Amino acid sequence: MGASLTHLLPEVRSLAKSDDNVRILALARDRWIDYPRATQAFKLLDWMVKIPPRQRMPCVLLYGDSNIGKTQVIAKFERRHPPEYDEEKGVEHRKIVSMQMPPTPDQSRFYTSLLFELGAPFNAAAKLSVLEKLTREVLREISPRMLVVDEVHHLLAGSYREQRASLNLLKFLANDLQMTIVLVGTQDAEFALQTDSQMSSRFARFVMPRWQESEAFRGLLAAFERILPLRRPSNLAKREVVSAVLAASGGLTGEVSRLLNAATELAIRDGREMIDVSHIEQARSSVF
Ligand SMILES: Nc1ncnc2c1ncn2[C@@H]1O[C@H](COP(=O)(O)OP(=O)(O)OP(=O)(O)O)[C@@H](O)[C@H]1O
Ligand SMILES: [Mg+2]
Repeated sequence: MGASLTHLLPEVRSLAKSDDNVRILALARDRWIDYPRATQAFKLLDWMVKIPPRQRMPCVLLYGDSNIGKTQVIAKFERRHPPEYDEEKGVEHRKIVSMQMPPTPDQSRFYTSLLFELGAPFNAAAKLSVLEKLTREVLREISPRMLVVDEVHHLLAGSYREQRASLNLLKFLANDLQMTIVLVGTQDAEFALQTDSQMSSRFARFVMPRWQESEAFRGLLAAFERILPLRRPSNLAKREVVSAVLAASGGLTGEVSRLLNAATELAIRDGREMIDVSHIEQARSSVF
């Protein structure tokens, strides 16, 4: 093959020379692409995780539409702060503990989910007061600096009373253990938070907006181009492609990713080896 593949990252070049099926399968792999809003989120979270324990720990609600990339940001942030082993004490120190809000806001389920994440043995049938006490003990031991709760919009599935109870539980943990709390969810999470004005005022808001035509979005597409295993350059940051991807994706990162994968597969199968607007249009109507 004569192509020098300079439009690709060096680590992707050998994949680009592989068989079609190998390349198509590789599209399903997890990947992380940096973009400015994610960098801003990391900056905020890095700052929060370093705050020494104090009475009123700052908390944040990170929210945005489904499929915008919230959970990926949190996961990447966690990978940047892996657990550290304290040789002297012989214990693992986890700065960040993350969990998902149970689908129905039930305090016992909240504690059992958290204990599960903490790797602590527990009796799921235990009384709420026992689970609460155990959770506090385990958290004291591990002394994380940050608790991340994803899917916080599940709170809205409960009654007003249950919502208040769950928010109180979070407030209690934040105060008692002096850790920062990061809530993650859709706009509904923001509505749920508003049911408690004291909680609401305590949480700063960090929005992850949908993509619009911008330098950042062109940068995102250019970054995708460097990792999609096509043998010819597509120039995805050019105007027609940018408009087509934006229209077809609704500005959602997950849709952008899905569309570009589908378009890449089409460009491999038809032998063009580069994505053009017709691939995007075709990919728009495909399911995968
Ligand atoms: N930084 C990124 N690099 C590459 N792909 C990404 C990135 N962020 C998100 N994606 C893609 O978008 C998809 C959706 O991301 P994610 O699951 O984080 O969304 P979400 O905002 O948590 O959605 P939901 O509210 O439904 O949970 C991912 O599965 C992935 O394909
Ligand atoms: Mg998510």
